[in-house]
Amino acid sequence: MLDFSNRRNRFVRMDEVSDTFLTELDAMAKGDAFYPRYHIAPHHGLLNDPNGLYQHQGEHHFFYQWFPLGPVHGLKHWYHVSTKDFVHYTDHGVALYPDQDYDSHGCYSGSSFQLDDQVYLYYTGNRMVQDGVFEQTQCYATVEKNGGIVKKGVIVNRDPKKHTHHFRDPILFSRGSDHYMLVGAETIEGDGTIAVYHGKSLEEFSYAGDVELGLGMPFGYMWECPNYYETEDKGVLIFSPQGVTSETKYDLKNVFSVVYIVGDPLDVTDMTFHHNGFIEMDKGFDFYAPQTYLDDQGRRILLGWLGNSKSEYPTDRNGWAHMLTIPRVLTIHGNKVRQEPVEELRRLRRSSREVKGSMELNSSSFELEGDLEDSFQIIISNDEGDTLMFSSDGQEYCLDRSNTTHVYAEKYGTKRYALRQTGLSQKIRMYVDASSIEIFCDEGETVFTSRFFIDQITSLSVSGVMGTLYDLSSISLVKKGEANEDGAMYE
Ligand code: FRU
Repeated sequence: MLDFSNRRNRFVRMDEVSDTFLTELDAMAKGDAFYPRYHIAPHHGLLNDPNGLYQHQGEHHFFYQWFPLGPVHGLKHWYHVSTKDFVHYTDHGVALYPDQDYDSHGCYSGSSFQLDDQVYLYYTGNRMVQDGVFEQTQCYATVEKNGGIVKKGVIVNRDPKKHTHHFRDPILFSRGSDHYMLVGAETIEGDGTIAVYHGKSLEEFSYAGDVELGLGMPFGYMWECPNYYETEDKGVLIFSPQGVTSETKYDLKNVFSVVYIVGDPLDVTDMTFHHNGFIEMDKGFDFYAPQTYLDDQGRRILLGWLGNSKSEYPTDRNGWAHMLTIPRVLTIHGNKVRQEPVEELRRLRRSSREVKGSMELNSSSFELEGDLEDSFQIIISNDEGDTLMFSSDGQEYCLDRSNTTHVYAEKYGTKRYALRQTGLSQKIRMYVDASSIEIFCDEGETVFTSRFFIDQITSLSVSGVMGTLYDLSSISLVKKGEANEDGAMYE
């Protein structure tokens, strides 16, 4: 592997290494027992934010941030996969290479926008302007009819009197023929903010103000990955603020967290967003930079980065890092967002058994669906007695990874808590995939998303839970034009 303590190696390009190097890295990643079966993960190297999500002509397109050469944040590319059913995926390879002057040090995060059957991709070009000093501009590209992606150049430069060089992750929405681009930013005073740009066309934007959230206090120093959408009568803003914490054990315990706000639609005359406060989106250890899109059934689908930026993971030694979350459907209830796994994932289910007492597992990729009593415990373990525990005393949930085989990122704590909601049905859906766990409770209002590392998982023990355990099969990922395992061809 390259030595990444030498920071320059983070900018080594894919064409500067040999094919053998990449093949070996690929084999190391895929040979790792912690590599997932039904989550999108990088062939090798590091995956972070989901980008540019959209559905077009029945096909869901996902891109993600990718550094190919190792498990670190280096020179970012956009990698592209697509699917019609969330089970069979087509592997399109790299969509955006950092090959222009304006994105020479990374094609950073961004989103997609569709107008009149044309798909546009908006992203951040990261460019080194002096040794160790970077400039970020918003750029765009179009997806051509043949699927090819054509870069069109820079579309928005920051105003250095207003925003620092932390200026990235564009997302668009429209009101009639007016288009708005939101950009995550830091003000020159050092506070997190969202800059808004207005465009009469999708190719020209001018600054229209910063979003006024009225939180009455600085809320972190940089807001990454804004995501904004509107339902009939509400505006939903999701973003990833850096530098926020809380006094309680229930909130904002990760190095960086994700919050959402359900409010009135953004008032574009003065950029105010009226609402009743923010809510942390996920209570687990590893969830960041989510994005959403609307599919052709009218579902608002979310994918997040199932990882987090300041931790070293035990799998780093095998040359890969992170995965995307499973796709989830978002619905709004009052000022709350609920998340539930997309229905299509039920197709991954293979054998099923009733959950009871202590059970031997057939595999480390499974789903549990059931009813919870006030007090319950769910323990995943191996023969050595290493455990991951999710439990409740009726008042609060606790996810405890302090007794796993490979404990990591301990400085951010080894337990996560959430208050249990009352008046909602007490069901659980839990997805485990070798080294990840996604838990949906309180009808999807409380979600824990995490990695955990237990060598050779063998059993599951439950108390206070009645339900079913399903073994889950793998998703398939095949290069465009090649046959899937079940013989089906996807174009
Ligand atoms: C969030 C983030 C984004 C940035 C990207 C770079 O994880 O830091 O703000 O665009 O990752 O990979």
